[in-house]
This record gives sequence, structure tokens and C-alpha cells, in this order.
Amino acid sequence: MSELQGRKIVLGVTGGIAAYKAAELVRLLGKAGAEVHVVLTEGGARFVTAVTFQALSGNPVWSDLWDPRMANNMAHIDLGRDADAILVAPATADFIARLAHGLADDLLTTLCLARDVPLIVAPAMNRQMWEAGPTRRNLALIRGDGVTVFGPGAGDQACGEVGMGRMLEAEEVLESLEGFFVPKSLAGRKVVMTAGPTFEAIDPVRGITNISSGKMGYALARACVQAGAEVVLVSGDVALPVPLGVRRVAAASAQAMRTAVVDALPGADVFIGVAAVADYRPASYAAHKIKKSDEEMSIPLVPNPDILAEVAARADAPFCVGFAAESRNLDDYAETKRRRKKLPLLVGNLVSDGMGGDENSVVLFDDEGRHPLPRAGKAVVARGIVNHLAAMLAARRG
Ligand code: PMT
Repeated sequence: MSELQGRKIVLGVTGGIAAYKAAELVRLLGKAGAEVHVVLTEGGARFVTAVTFQALSGNPVWSDLWDPRMANNMAHIDLGRDADAILVAPATADFIARLAHGLADDLLTTLCLARDVPLIVAPAMNRQMWEAGPTRRNLALIRGDGVTVFGPGAGDQACGEVGMGRMLEAEEVLESLEGFFVPKSLAGRKVVMTAGPTFEAIDPVRGITNISSGKMGYALARACVQAGAEVVLVSGDVALPVPLGVRRVAAASAQAMRTAVVDALPGADVFIGVAAVADYRPASYAAHKIKKSDEEMSIPLVPNPDILAEVAARADAPFCVGFAAESRNLDDYAETKRRRKKLPLLVGNLVSDGMGGDENSVVLFDDEGRHPLPRAGKAVVARGIVNHLAAMLAARRG
């Protein structure tokens, strides 16, 4: 279940080319379980029509301050009254300026002024408009008034220029909005983690790897960053987008992963090993492709460094969380692993439950015993792990 399930979002759409992204955003918000009410400015309606937003949201679209459809004729007050947030995406330079100075001459600006719910804007404008002094000052003013700003991003612009000012993609706005509602239980913490499989090269075209997709680790990285942590994600080779706000370091082999973890550790409060790290690697690497022959062949293997055990054994060890993927006897094997590596917390899962797929069933093991979490999508499981972790960290702090 998404953080947005059951939330009422008023989505303001102002007049910029990025208004087309707002249409996709409405679809994504609906898919995440949110109820969306679109307020379209006159400029916004020049880019995307009200019909599009009405069809996608399943709700009437509002544009006119004097709209008689609201029984008391107070759309500017009533629309925002029981909303969880007002999100303006795209927010043009002009809209931000009017917001900064308290202008209230259309439905959206009036709604933003007459509200007691959080207000978020996702700016969208040309690079020079973004960098212009008045825009800088207006952004400082709205931030000072408690308005949250998502983005913008950098890249190609509709005007042909390249630079800052692009509205975040619809998926990124959605991810930011989900994060907005997550309690900041890991604020001020630095989390270093591993995720995905490792690849131990045999020759230039072959190697030893496993079926980890990285989904559990990436979901956990997203949950940590949404809970307010600074996150460094040391990742094996996976085909997943990097969660917004997470710093990803690519590391294909166990040895590369170990080096990247050691480099990222200074200042870390928490280390989480989600990666399925190969326990062994080929003793030697063949610089050229090994040729086929009729002879039987074997590949000598040597043990890889155990990254988690090494981090947990450090004198300055952060709070270490291990994972254990087992094919049977989960409780016995997981708890034995936790004790052997001296971990305060270990997340156990069966390979058949969690490896590769979108869902997982996990059991958390700590000094208090076993704590099963219900089977769910990996994003929900990740939030459950973060809640448990944050409670343990808070208890340690006293
Ligand atoms: O990626 P997905 O498809 O979403 O699947 C998720 C997952 C099943 C891979 C994940 O939930 C999980 O269980 N990860 C740990 C898998 C594993 O290899 O466990 P292990 O029992 O071999 O290792 C125990 C712990 O030591 C793990 O935290 C592992 O990251 C760490 N380890 C292991 C070996 C090694 N050389 N270095 C390590 O750091």
C-alpha cells in the first residue's frame, strides 16, 4: 500500500509546457490510491484541457473563482479544506511570484492563500527564468513561508536550451510526494547499504552470479531516504532506477563492493547488507575467452571477503543489519547467522518468498526474539523494516 492511499490531493496545474506531465501525474496518483482534484489555471488550460484531467482523475476540474457548482459558491475555501496537501505541478515562475507576494486573483492563488494544509510546488521554467534574481528571491520567500519545493531537475528544455528548471518527471514527483508523508524517523542518520547480486568474472564473457534483482535493497534504500536518512547504496548490476535522493555507487564484484562500502563508511550510523554477495570467486581470471574442449573442466574458487562480518567487527562499527536468504530452516539459520556475525538486527527471508519477485515475507530477528512482518510488496516490507530499525536506534540513544 502506498503512503498516498486514501489521501486527498488538490493538484494545481499552471501554464507551462510541463503541464503534459501533470496528466501522467494524475494517473499515477490515482493508481497509488489518492483522490485527486485538479485546479486548472487559465494558462494551464492552454496546454492541457480540463476534459483530460476530468477523465484521468474521475472528478470535476475547477478553474473559475466564481464557479457556481460549489453549493456555497466558495470553491476557493472548500476545495482545500479536507485535503492532505495542495501540490502545484507545474508551477511557473509567474505563479511562484504571485504566491510569494500573496496575490489572490484566481482560484488557485486564492486556494493557496486560504489554506491550512501543506503546500508543495514543482517548478517548471526556462533555465534563465530559474536563475533570474526575482525567481531566486521569490523561492526564498515561499520557502520561508513553509512551502515545500520539489526539484526542479536539469536537462533539455522545450526552448532548446539545456539547464536547471525542468519539472521533475511525473514518477519523481509521485516519489517525492510519497516521501513527504513519511515520518522522518531516520532524520540525521547516514545509512550505507549494499543491494543486488555480485558478478565474479571467470573470463571476459562469463562469470558467477545469482538471481537477486535488487528490488528488496532498492525498496529499502528508498524507504530510508524517505524517512530522512542520507543513503549511499552500493549496488551490483541491476536494471532498476535509483531512488530519488539516494547516492548509488556501482560495484559488480564482492571485492569491488567491499572497497566501495569501506570508502562510504566514514560517518555512517547504519550499515545494511541486502546484497546477495557471492561467497566464492574464481581463483584466477582468464584474460581471454576460455576455449571449448572435450575435457572435463573445473574452476578453482577462493572465498570472498565477508563485507557484513568485516563491518560489524570494526571498533567503530555502525549499527549493522544483516539479511539472510535461506531455502529452509529460516529461524535456525537466520538466528545462527545473526549471532555469528554479532548483529543487533537480521532480516530473514526464504529464497522462494523474496528473491526476484515484487513481494516478500520477512522475519526480523533481534535480542528480543522474532518479529514476522506480513507478506506484502517490497516497498511496504521496507517501511516495516525501517520502522523497526528506527525504534531500535531511538532506544539505543535513550
Ligand atoms: O534482490 P531481490 O531479488 O529483491 O531479493 C532480495 C534478497 C532475497 C536477495 C534479500 O532479501 C536477501 O535476503 N539478501 C541477502 C542474501 C544473502 O546472500 O544472504 P547470505 O545469507 O548469503 O548473507 C548473509 C548476510 O551477509 C547478508 O546481509 C549479505 O549481504 C552479507 N554478506 C554475505 C556474504 C559476503 N561475502 N558478504 C556479505 O556482506
